[in-house]
Amino acid sequence: MVSAWAAVVAGLGAAVMLAARGPEERAGLAACAAGLLAARWLYRLFFSPLELLRSPDDVGYAAERGRSKALAANEARRRRRLGELPPVYPNGWYRVLDSPNLRREEVKHVSVLGEQLAVFRGRDGTVYVLDAYCPHLGANMAVGGRVKGNCIECPFHGWQFRGKDGKCANIPYTEKVPKVAKVRRWPSCEVNQQILVWFHCDEAEPQWAVPEQEEITKAQWVYQGRTEHFVNAHIEEIPENAADIAHLGHLHIPGIVSGADLRYHYSRLWDFVRHRWKVEWAPESEPNSHCSKMQLEHSLTVFGSHWSLLDFHVEARQVGPGLVFLRFTHGFLGRGVLLQSVTPVEPLLQCVSHTMFYQAGVPAPVPKFILKAESIQFERDVWIWNNKMYISKPLLVAADSSILKHRRWYGQFYSENSPRLQHRRDALDF
Ligand code: FES
Ligand SMILES: [Fe+2]
Repeated sequence: MVSAWAAVVAGLGAAVMLAARGPEERAGLAACAAGLLAARWLYRLFFSPLELLRSPDDVGYAAERGRSKALAANEARRRRRLGELPPVYPNGWYRVLDSPNLRREEVKHVSVLGEQLAVFRGRDGTVYVLDAYCPHLGANMAVGGRVKGNCIECPFHGWQFRGKDGKCANIPYTEKVPKVAKVRRWPSCEVNQQILVWFHCDEAEPQWAVPEQEEITKAQWVYQGRTEHFVNAHIEEIPENAADIAHLGHLHIPGIVSGADLRYHYSRLWDFVRHRWKVEWAPESEPNSHCSKMQLEHSLTVFGSHWSLLDFHVEARQVGPGLVFLRFTHGFLGRGVLLQSVTPVEPLLQCVSHTMFYQAGVPAPVPKFILKAESIQFERDVWIWNNKMYISKPLLVAADSSILKHRRWYGQFYSENSPRLQHRRDALDF
């Protein structure tokens, strides 16, 4: 979009310059065009949110020269050893969409947890989530279906299903609607400008609520951007990072200036910038035993001297298997939250979103810088996750003890009937 705009400006500028008569006139016009571009850049820096949406093979794969990243990703996925995996879909809340992306009387197709869902907003403004496949003849109601009141109408023969319970409310060419005509309704909620669904392998109702971040609801903290990554790993590997204290002192030490690519991030050129982390992780007690907390202190050294301007505190509160609230507090640059959501698309493909809300009034470059910095550090983890195997009985030392505590804590989200990986496909082409 930016480059298209820049091309239009450059094209117009070139046309006007060709029409200009003297060198002075041309220089004036060139300065004018540069000024316009600079104004556009500044506007975006200060007023537009940062949106960085990565495709599934974008990050975490090393492509040999002359080969595409997609090919490298497919080969890595096909050849890797998986290990003895826990069940693939833990019970809990998962983000499926952001609220502003679903208008009243609009339906969206969402593919999560190996299922196809129709997520729609009724006339009453409430969000409903139903299985997308119509039980009549199997049409996908999220593809071409229409919202009628608080029902979804199938595009094939016009049957209508109620959002609140999934029951068929009307068959346009039949008087009597059979009682068995219904689709699965998924419990859903809308909190912190996100739409979430509840998954339980036995279809049990929600066992806890998604906490509201009051500052978002009251618009004291405002949207400043979002990143999205796809991770090829078992879901549990991602939150386990919080309890893996030792990896922070290795993988995340090099300054973000040296980037995310693990082949180059230990660059000698940038060795003078180093992050320091002090971390503690612990589960919470009843009634919040489905939550855990990581307390993290960050500091930065440049040529060995401490830059206190970049000291900040993060409290990362994990809520259930797929949501984390990373609350930032900085001495004078204010407060905000990064909402991290990890939603399984398939057993070994997680969609990870980080959405930044930050104190209104703080200049946008501050939260956008934090979001970008976090994204670089996160992408280093993606490199690890995309290529590692899961080890059910890891070889740990005493200092790694919180990893085992984390596995015990996370085990509460699996139950007897939790789905397991059934088979491996031979080809997983993106
Ligand atoms: S397939 Fe949906 S109404 Fe026939
Ligand atoms: Fe990490």
